[in-house]
Amino acid sequence: ERLAIGIDIGGTKVAAGVVDLDGHVRARLRRETPTTSPQEVLNTIADVVDELRAGYHITSVGIGAAGFVDATRSTVLFSPHLAWRNEPLRDAVHRRIGLSVLVDNDANAAAWAEWRFGAAQNEEDLVCITLGTGIGGALVIGGQLHRGRWGLAGEFGHMQVVPQGHRCECGNRGCWEQYASGNALVREAKIIAKGDSPLAHRLLELVDGDATRITGPLVSEVAREGDPEAIALLAEVGDWLGVGIAGLAAALDCGLFVIGGGVSEANELLIEPARDAFRRTLTGRGYRAEARIVRAHLGPDAGMIGAADMSRALRRRRSRRS
Ligand code: BGC
Ligand code: NA
Ligand code: ZN
Repeated sequence: ERLAIGIDIGGTKVAAGVVDLDGHVRARLRRETPTTSPQEVLNTIADVVDELRAGYHITSVGIGAAGFVDATRSTVLFSPHLAWRNEPLRDAVHRRIGLSVLVDNDANAAAWAEWRFGAAQNEEDLVCITLGTGIGGALVIGGQLHRGRWGLAGEFGHMQVVPQGHRCECGNRGCWEQYASGNALVREAKIIAKGDSPLAHRLLELVDGDATRITGPLVSEVAREGDPEAIALLAEVGDWLGVGIAGLAAALDCGLFVIGGGVSEANELLIEPARDAFRRTLTGRGYRAEARIVRAHLGPDAGMIGAADMSRALRRRRSRRS
């Protein structure tokens, strides 16, 4: 039996698991992402691998990293949310744990998982968008993950949608991920709550009046309870999501958009407004087929499942060569 470990390293959370050949998660772990230094992240990776491999025979490790991963899939060139700058992550992890290691962008890993096991099976042309701390993107064209010239294709989150807009952690302003991500959702919720608006009374009640404790999952939870302001906040994020997707559809004309990441847990409260905005803004509407927009089937597990599965594919290729 061929089991691999997948580790999804996001801007706030590390999700790791033991994944089998069918993409099922046999065991899982969660940690906060250390944002201070690459060394701390490395320690966390080594920790979760040690813990997970104690109970299973592991053949390889795949890492989905929230950042720009180079074409050789070994170095994180840059990460807006984490401390990685030209970080040779694959070699560092390999040296530390001894197993075969693969590194890819976190959204690429999620797209791979959805394509192999989830919402995008049998699709040849699709875009996967993950909404977490930022926006992750991946592009499958003709049944192949499209990587671009230097490995960095799919950084949709850093396309400018608002000139002179909110500052982004990438250094630019007005990036899409400043309007349609978990961070955007939380930023807006906090603004409303800090003004002590009656609209935020339910949110504030759940954090004992401390607006700084508001999180994305909390906003979603309150929205699901039926709180109108939380619903409106998610709809606003969904609206920006749909506008951005219409732009991607204009450029790429793909048949399917898969929406994953933590914020997608809000499900139709996010996706329906996104579909509306997409239909409203899609160029040539009425005279063309419209892409489907669906929620990721593997939810927040997609990154870890995809990373694990990719590491297995790579190991197969390497051993065939030798
Ligand atoms: C980063 C991407 C990453 C995404 C989701 C973005 O800010 O630039 O590389 O995939 O966040 O984590
Ligand atoms: Na990507
Ligand atoms: Zn940016």
